Amino acid sequence: MTDRFTLDNKLPGDYFEAALAADVRKGLAAPPRSLPPKWFYDARGSELFEQITRLPEYYPTRAEQEILTRRAPEIAALTRARTLVELGSGSSRKTRTLLDALTTAGTLAHYAPLDVSESALREAGQALCRDYPSLRVTATVADFATGLDLPQEAGPRLLAFLGSTIGNLDPAERTSFYAVLRGAMSGDDTLLLGADLVKDPAVLVRAYDDSQGVTAAFNKNLLHVLNRELGADFDPDGFDHKAVWNETEERIEMRLRARAATTVKLPAVDLAVEFTRGEELLTELSGKFRRDALTADLAAAGLTVRQWWTDPAERFALLLVVPA
Ligand code: SAH
Ligand code: TRP
Repeated sequence: MTDRFTLDNKLPGDYFEAALAADVRKGLAAPPRSLPPKWFYDARGSELFEQITRLPEYYPTRAEQEILTRRAPEIAALTRARTLVELGSGSSRKTRTLLDALTTAGTLAHYAPLDVSESALREAGQALCRDYPSLRVTATVADFATGLDLPQEAGPRLLAFLGSTIGNLDPAERTSFYAVLRGAMSGDDTLLLGADLVKDPAVLVRAYDDSQGVTAAFNKNLLHVLNRELGADFDPDGFDHKAVWNETEERIEMRLRARAATTVKLPAVDLAVEFTRGEELLTELSGKFRRDALTADLAAAGLTVRQWWTDPAERFALLLVVPA
């Protein structure tokens, strides 16, 4: 393979045993039960997410792509980025629009994707090196929630955080994440943030509960991960996929609901979890945003919104954000 691609795994060797086990002890031991979303993304989870992005009901990817297609030349002109750093890059599919514009502008030398999914990084990185013959790609396997050490490369850097992954953090995690991002940014760096907007709940629920059941399979993949990594004995068919609009918090909540009373054993963490019939495990939050509140939250972290772009239907926003 090309020497323009490197992959650096920064996760501790015992990440799955230690970090997953800790999250499981904290989130599963007692009701209300919940788990953080990063555990969805093993190789199969990353593949299922790619399928989600192509579903007719899942509008966010297409809406964000529309904005990127229209605004990429402006983004390139405004940032003059030499390094593109991307958090939660997944397949890097939409990123290609940015890479094209920054290559045309002649400023880009380096792409640094970061994700917890090694398989997604490897596939994306190798394809990008093939398609962008002068680009250096340095992929990092890491958890962006537990300390961001961004590549100290020549600036200006453009930090991309797309797909409304920011909405998967709860409000407190979001606030500290903005502060971490601000702390990591130099004066000439820019943040490109993708945020899904509040809209008709029926449209939102369909986006997270599609007719082909791909999102249900994605949600249940979490149980397969627990079975494999912790020797658990979840029966994925014993749980129903639920996507619920939480009106107060303005977020979609993904849950797995036990179809019958069941006891699940998790030997690696020495835990037996008793689910009552209908009991739910919260697996994902997907917060939806409003312009004023998001602008204010960023301002509180010392970040100024320089551009706010939406798709024509105003479903999704793409923001260019700079240090105040
Ligand atoms: N940016 C892509 C993928 C979004 S899905 C898009 O817009 O389509 C969210 C991505 O973030 C997945 O690739 C997942 O593996 C990654 N991810 C989720 N939690 C993470 C964490 N804590 N640290 C690093 N990557 C994470
Ligand atoms: N960031 C994406 C979102 O909130 C992640 C996502 C999309 C997701 N569909 C999902 C997470 C289904 C869990 C289940 O839209």
